[in-house]
Amino acid sequence: MNLKIAVLPGDGIGPEVILQAKKALYAVGVVYEHDFIFEEALIGAVAIDKTGTSLPEQTLNLCLNTDAVLFGAIGDPKYDSDSTLKNRPEDGLLKLRKGLGLYANIRPLKPFKGLLDVSPLKREIVEGVDFVIYRELTAGIYFGEKKLNESETIASDLCEYTEEEITRIAHLAFQSAQKRRKKLTLVDMANVLETSRLWRKVVTKISADYPEVSLDYLLADNAAKQIISNPKQFDVVLTSNLFGDLLSDEASVITGSIGVLASASLGEKNALFEPVHGSYPHAKGRNIANPFAAILSAAMLLDYFGLNEEAKKIYEGVEKAIEYNVVTLDLNPDSKFGTNEIGEFISNFILNKD
Ligand code: NAI
Ligand code: MG
Repeated sequence: MNLKIAVLPGDGIGPEVILQAKKALYAVGVVYEHDFIFEEALIGAVAIDKTGTSLPEQTLNLCLNTDAVLFGAIGDPKYDSDSTLKNRPEDGLLKLRKGLGLYANIRPLKPFKGLLDVSPLKREIVEGVDFVIYRELTAGIYFGEKKLNESETIASDLCEYTEEEITRIAHLAFQSAQKRRKKLTLVDMANVLETSRLWRKVVTKISADYPEVSLDYLLADNAAKQIISNPKQFDVVLTSNLFGDLLSDEASVITGSIGVLASASLGEKNALFEPVHGSYPHAKGRNIANPFAAILSAAMLLDYFGLNEEAKKIYEGVEKAIEYNVVTLDLNPDSKFGTNEIGEFISNFILNKD
């Protein structure tokens, strides 16, 4: 298969972990005879430094004209204190998601067997957990009108959802549930929020198209508790942008480290794959960042294109690395292995296919 992949390493540890993901994809290309062409572009703080904007037009155009995007992370503390800077690095990602129409962020939560004791949660709670979060990504409160009065004493962020925005991600979530354990949980705040009531109405209506999938509802505050007290109950979790952001970071506790969580962001025409973690500025250039999340995002990319055997191979490589304790400090405080060595281990595993 020929695939043109836009690579946006971004800031902080982004470039280091994305390099390891590229190594894995390169190895897959060699072993399974695929032609993956990578083209790099700027986003985030590095893009502001070099071009004055967090999402240069060239980057967006490249992403619009490739098969998939592999994204690292953005964010640099040097821009944190600059309150006048409208064009923050993080804005680049929001604009990219919007520009590519990536309305569904998909985050699978399935702890690796070898990491069950790394999670601060009890083994009996995390063992057997297997669910996926469908988070709406291009609407809601992050994209609503923002206001600050002149004396800077009153601020507001508008949360708005349309039936169409809810419908398109709901279908994806139901389709996923159909292929899984056939259970969908809608997380909202329908007791207090009008947008949540719309979510319930629309999702309930759509559920009629998927009679074999059972639908239940959970208020977001309760969901926050259930996700770490009884995560095994979940199969597919569907939720809005803000709740999904919070709950998926919380759910990372189940897997032992945010450094192992991968995600896919899908739209009608485009697909982007990225680790769930941010730019972890403190670790930049120190060869200590966990590359699993980026490498597993590359596996999700392969799955998306139907290259399931290839994706499985990457997944097995990560399992093998965990088995041999070839992991970063977040998973083993005594580890002597760094980002690079782990990337090498996995690409070598893939290259020695049998
Ligand atoms: P972060 O995810 O960068 O780091 C939080 C903590 O998670 C770290 O202190 C570290 O303990 C752990 N961690 C994260 N990635 C890891 C990895 N690969 N290996 C091992 N441990 C890892 O989130 P934080 O500190 O809130 O934000 C830092 C910057 O990243 C900010 O500028 C923020 O806006 C940005 N950010 C960007 C995201 C993106 O590009 N998608 C997502 C989240 C935050
Ligand atoms: Mg987040």
